[in-house]
Amino acid sequence: METQALTASFTVIPNRHPASAEERWIAMENPVFGKVFTDHMARATWRDGEGWADRRIVALSPLPMHPGAAVLHYAQQAFEGLKAYRHEDGSIWLFRPEANAARLAASCRRMALPEVSEQDFLAAIEGVIAADQNWVPGTPGASLYLRPFVIATEPSLLVQPAHEVDFLVTASPVGAYLSTEGDGVAIWVSRGYHRANPGGTGEAKTAGNYAASMLPQREAKEHGCQQVLFLDAKEDTYVEELGGMNVIAVRADGGIVTPRLTGTILPGVTRDSILTLLRDEGREVEERDLALTEILEGLESGAIVELFACGTAAVVTPIARLVSDDFDVAVPSREGESVADAVLARLTDLQYGRAEDPHGWMRKVVDAPEG
Ligand code: COI
Repeated sequence: METQALTASFTVIPNRHPASAEERWIAMENPVFGKVFTDHMARATWRDGEGWADRRIVALSPLPMHPGAAVLHYAQQAFEGLKAYRHEDGSIWLFRPEANAARLAASCRRMALPEVSEQDFLAAIEGVIAADQNWVPGTPGASLYLRPFVIATEPSLLVQPAHEVDFLVTASPVGAYLSTEGDGVAIWVSRGYHRANPGGTGEAKTAGNYAASMLPQREAKEHGCQQVLFLDAKEDTYVEELGGMNVIAVRADGGIVTPRLTGTILPGVTRDSILTLLRDEGREVEERDLALTEILEGLESGAIVELFACGTAAVVTPIARLVSDDFDVAVPSREGESVADAVLARLTDLQYGRAEDPHGWMRKVVDAPEG
């Protein structure tokens, strides 16, 4: 696809003190996920009755915010996560940004925030990437993580939808989110805590869902696990998702099982892409209720042979152990023949331009340098 001229709607005011090439090189060498930020950010403001205005790409800077800003008190916000990839010829591409735009709009609706149009979403992201193209890593497995977010800035302690809102996009060069030493990550199955309730905000990408996962996430760490897995709140039976990623199981016959999107689960773009790639291979993909007992018994009997986590940040991460108060079950290693490794290779080959893009998922943002 051709580079789009969307950035025109965002006025660029360049950072007058960008990082030097050396500072950038040091910052990008081995960045901890989400700790390094580029020189620019996108920002637009919304006022009730006026709509979105002041679209601009500006120097990354702290946000002057009234201490009464509604987001600080009632977490009225929504966010996204997506990545830009540098291809071998130097061009820069986004992966399915339209899907993230649609999900942000859905999250905004649920959080009673004004929607950001797809055009503004793309223009803001592409504006930041264009301004910070030197920050897009070219090293294997690395990418530029974009974090668009919408926050209620109105100073008001009334519990009501804000009349003043900001939309921002920051960018961070990143490598892996989860470190997988050995065969994969250990997952703590939370028994006392749930992530989301029917009718709640579980399918929106909003801060509160992640805030609520931090205590169980700490519990996971205390038990030597990298991530927490939540069961459904209604029956305390069915697997939903991890603290920040979806979960997929592989049956012995090669079929795939993953929790269906019940309204309490985040509809992951990576989840959807992986299920599509696995269907393309001719695999049976079941999206249905998946009980924890089915997984534990399946691992014991051999009916389930593999588990992995997936998300924009995590990409595809094999799960090596499931742990809780009353069990500690190893997931067998399938080195060399795992579905997780194969689908990770297919997905990343596509994202880094090493393979055909049959679904038209990639969107070029910056052309390859000439010559
Ligand atoms: C993402 O995968 O983009 C997320 O927002 C998850 C978060 C844990 C980093």
